[in-house]
Parts: sequence; structure tokens; C-alpha cells
Amino acid sequence: MEYINNELCLGPLKKPLLPLVANYMRPIYVYDLDFIAQRFNAMAAALKGVRLFYAMKANSNPGVLQKLKSLGAGADVVSLGEIKRALECGFQPQDIVYSGVGKTKFEISEALKLGIYQINVESLPELERIGKIAREMGKKAAVALRLNPDVDIKTHPYIATGLKDNKFGMELSLVPALVDCLKSFTDSISLVGVSLHLGSQMLEFSGYEEALQRLKKVFLQLKKEFPDLKKFDFGGGLGIFYDRADLELEESLLRQYAEITLRTLADLNCELQSEPGRWLVAHCGALITQVQYIKETSAKTFVIVDAGMNHLIRPSLYEASHRIEPLKKGPAAAVVDVVGPICESSDFFAKERSLTTVQEGDFLAIMDSGAYGYSMASIYNLQELPLEVCI
Ligand SMILES: Cc1ncc(COP(=O)(O)O)c(C=O)c1O
Repeated sequence: MEYINNELCLGPLKKPLLPLVANYMRPIYVYDLDFIAQRFNAMAAALKGVRLFYAMKANSNPGVLQKLKSLGAGADVVSLGEIKRALECGFQPQDIVYSGVGKTKFEISEALKLGIYQINVESLPELERIGKIAREMGKKAAVALRLNPDVDIKTHPYIATGLKDNKFGMELSLVPALVDCLKSFTDSISLVGVSLHLGSQMLEFSGYEEALQRLKKVFLQLKKEFPDLKKFDFGGGLGIFYDRADLELEESLLRQYAEITLRTLADLNCELQSEPGRWLVAHCGALITQVQYIKETSAKTFVIVDAGMNHLIRPSLYEASHRIEPLKKGPAAAVVDVVGPICESSDFFAKERSLTTVQEGDFLAIMDSGAYGYSMASIYNLQELPLEVCI
């Protein structure tokens, strides 16, 4: 992000955002596809030899998906809706890993019909369900066990997924029961992998390394009984900075993460997979919104914009703090709350934030909102969904 002639520009190619609001109708998510390519290529280079399945829950915009597909990504999905979107955007069934704790019978049979590459199983009843459905269909399901090494990666509790009180994955103590179940379905299930995902926004890796070590032991145990086992999926979750633009530091954290992963798993001689989401797309998107009112009270100045928590829920849901920049650089700063039109006090983007002076009609960019932005948007208060533009 940079200002050129006082106009905000996005990404390494410094693409100006002001032209996008020439015929402004409502909030716009803008995604810089060249920036996404830069991030993907950096990750693919650091994680050499690892197959990257983009976690499309982060951003399932067709332009973004097609770009990532063209760069060589597979897709990590969590619903039949995401499978359909991935297929529409050019991914093949063999490019898709299917995760998620609540797969319905219909979703499983559709996935088997399509020949999805790998189903990441999250519970014993799900494994049994897959075994039975595949048997009835005369198919063999390729599954990976999502195991939960019970380590704390110190992130927001709502995005931690690798602890024993999380609903995700399966406890390591369940492995013997899983083995029994797998043995009763040798005709309809092939155990091809193990997987883990500890949570999102990981910026420190000691817990992650510990988790890899624990899962590696399980992989080696399972390998003795299941010769088809050849994939180790180490999840997504690499974090980014929301409070500053420091891509160099992020890339150095990426290299650290890659070094730990590749060193720890090297002697398994297996296929490595990852499911990154946020790291690839968050910085590449911004939410553009228009200032409607400046409201002064005895306690505060509110900048009321036309985007709300229904368009970008991260500040309300996770207390996430996104940088907010005016599209046209203005004079001197004032301390304000930036809030939306939704009838909830949790509808805010920033509190007590120093912001360039803005007026009614000005445009602001809520930065780093390319991940978990539009994909989590709703029509609460019957507000329209934002527009999306790829540049
Ligand atoms: C199973 C799984 N894989 C990958 C991801 C992507 O995580 P991130 O966007 O933090 O990389 C998630 C996110 O929730 C997930 O649940």
C-alpha cells in the first residue's frame, strides 16, 4: 500500500483505487490478482515440493479462484457449495481436499460420485458414515485422518482449532478405535493420509513444531498397518500482520515456518500438503466504503460509513483491528470511531483511531480484508452484499 499523488494504491504494482469509485453504488471488495500471484509464488518457493490446497473459505471469489488455479493451487473445501464453486472455476475433483466437521450423507455421496481427491475425516462417526456410503456405492474413499495433537498456538480462541476442547479433528487417544474402524472398511476406505490444522493467525511456531512431532509418530505407527498411507497434510494457519505493512518480516516468518515443516517431516519420505488461506489473499484485498456522516457526541467523534459488520465481521467477531486509509490523503489527523449502519453496538471497524480528517462523501479503504471478508458477509438488516472487483 502506498500513496502516489495523494491517491491510495494497492499491491506491489501500485494499482490506484480511486478510479473504482467513479460510479460508486455500495461497498466494494477489491482484490489485486497480481499481488495474490506474488504471495502464492513466495509460498510455493518456500514450501518447495509441497502441494498447496488453497483454503477457499478465506475468499471464494471466482476471479481469485481462477487465478490460484492457474498458478497451480488445489482447493481445500468445507462444503458441497465450495466443491461446486471450485469445479466451476476450473479445479478438477482430483485437485480438491474436502475438510469440515459436519459433512452430510448427501455431501459425502456427492463427493464420492465426483471422485474428490481426499476427504479429511474429523470424527469416528464420520469415518463410519463414509465407509458405509462408499460401500453402498461400490466406491473406495480416499481419506486422511484429521488428528488433534492438543497443542496451544496462542491465537484468538475463536480461531484455535487444535485443542482437545475444540470440535475439530480427533484426539490422538482415538487412534486405536480409528484403526479398528478402518480395518472393518478395507473394501470401501483407503487411508491415504493424516492431517492437522491448529488454527489461524499463527505467528510463532513452537507449538506447531511440537504438533508436527506428535503427528509424525502417529504417521509412522499407522504406516505399518496401512501401506497406502503416503500423505501428510500440515494444514494452514500461517499468520499475517494486520497492524502494519511488513511483507519482508512476513516472508521471513514464512521461511521459518517452511524450514521447521520440511526439516521435521523430511525423513517421512511422504507427499506433503498444506491448506493456506489467509496468508495468500488477506493483504491482496481491501474493502472500499463511503463516509456517510460525521457524528459528534460529547464523548466521541463517529465516522459513520456505508459498510457494516455484515460486510466485514472480523472486528466485531475477533476484535480484529484493520488499518483504515482514505483513498485520497487528507490533512491532519483526528481520533475517531469508524462505525457502520447496522443496528448493533458491535458494528465498528475501529475505535479511538487516529484517522486523516474525512468528510461526508469521502472514501475509505479497510485494508487487508481479502481473507474472511466477503466470504463471511451476510445481508443482516437486509443490507445488500458488497460488490467484488478483481484488478
Ligand atoms: C481445515 C482448515 N484448513 C485450512 C484453513 C485455513 O486457515 P488460514 O486461512 O488461517 O490459513 C482453515 C481455516 O479455518 C481450516 O479450518
